[in-house]
Amino acid sequence: MPIQIIVGAQWGDEGKGRIVDWFAARADLVARYNGGDNAGHTVTVGQKTFKLHVVPSGIIHPAPVAVMGNGMVVNPATLLSEMETLRKMGIDVSPRRMRLSHAAHLITPAHRALDAAQERARGKGQIGTTGRGIGPAYTDKSSRSGLRLQDMLDPNTFADKIETHVADVNHTLQALYGAAPLDPKEVASQYCDYARVLAPYIGDVSRLLAQALADGKTLLAEGAQGTLLDLDHGTYPFVTSSTSTAPGALVGLGLGIQPVERVIGVTKSFQTRVGSGPFPTEVFGDTAERLRGTGSNPWDEFGTTTGRPRRVGWLDGVLLRYSVRINGLSELVLTKLDVLSGLPVIRVCTAYRDSADTHADLPLGPADLSPFTPVYEDLSGWDQDLSQARTAGDLPEAAREFLRKVEEIAGVPVKMVSVGPEREQTVVL
Ligand code: IMP
Repeated sequence: MPIQIIVGAQWGDEGKGRIVDWFAARADLVARYNGGDNAGHTVTVGQKTFKLHVVPSGIIHPAPVAVMGNGMVVNPATLLSEMETLRKMGIDVSPRRMRLSHAAHLITPAHRALDAAQERARGKGQIGTTGRGIGPAYTDKSSRSGLRLQDMLDPNTFADKIETHVADVNHTLQALYGAAPLDPKEVASQYCDYARVLAPYIGDVSRLLAQALADGKTLLAEGAQGTLLDLDHGTYPFVTSSTSTAPGALVGLGLGIQPVERVIGVTKSFQTRVGSGPFPTEVFGDTAERLRGTGSNPWDEFGTTTGRPRRVGWLDGVLLRYSVRINGLSELVLTKLDVLSGLPVIRVCTAYRDSADTHADLPLGPADLSPFTPVYEDLSGWDQDLSQARTAGDLPEAAREFLRKVEEIAGVPVKMVSVGPEREQTVVL
């Protein structure tokens, strides 16, 4: 009865989608446990590439049942539009194949309006949110005034609940932020329409998953965002509002600890970040352009959800070690190794230095990285194109040396490497 958890070991966008794809082909159930439509997972079916923000990306395989857990915040408009896209591609999204937790929270247009107003008010201190209403929806959840998917099941009270919620947010929008109010009746009517369509999908997914695990089925839990965006353990306050780390899978799906078999951390071969906040190994100029790409390919470093160019830098070993610890990673998957081809020198940050000392680990977690400058180890690069590599033996010695260095820093094995955007461009080690 194994649970496999896949998490981003960095600031999100590690290329989890294709790794999830690989594991989902062998799973009976796939589940999202945190976040909402702030995530962006690029998936490819045949010749078509498209982006999923809220439905677990493992759904594109014919077998697994897709589950959205209580730890999520769900925008029904995005969900229904993704379901429609999937349906058009011939993917079954009936309630037999897709289940939504009754305890997941709803995102409304009022949450989105509040997210935008709060970001504007932050001025220079902006978090750089995706604008999807994530923070305000989780704020309502914590303050015990949120709306859950379960509320959609009672047509007699749901419209009133939505109207009251929108009217409440309108007060804040107008009084605090001078922003335009929303029409509570219009939102309520729209949400009642969504409720009618989604009602058959809503249930106690914790029970479903526990039963499936007891029957010996395999569950793949796909984390959204990354370790450093975790509300508690990330680079606070430049984080998202959910538990994106591996333990979040258990809380966010309503499961106990015991069945966890593997915790797989996905990291790029370098470092990227969207949004604001300190980034010690960030690079600029030619090297940055080289790592980022031009944006002409879907896998270049531009946000899946927002299209923003990602900030890029060298692999940060201090943060990687932290990620191994916080998630309890059993192994690593390294993506985009091919992007490093042609660089004469590859830098890896092995420690931080501040005015007082050198640190192999973070003295106070990653919340304030601004005092630190990276201590680098420089490794030889390689010129070979890696896109055809399929076994460890196909990789040049310098690339294998880079992987050994990553394993030494992280203290866990690198089990898989990606060398291009296609499914088969994967080296299992
Ligand atoms: P929010 O989740 O929209 O509130 O945004 C908070 C922070 O998390 C911002 O820095 C976003 O850029 C970042 N973020 C949220 N979701 C993702 C993701 O899926 N990938 C990368 N960054 C993300």
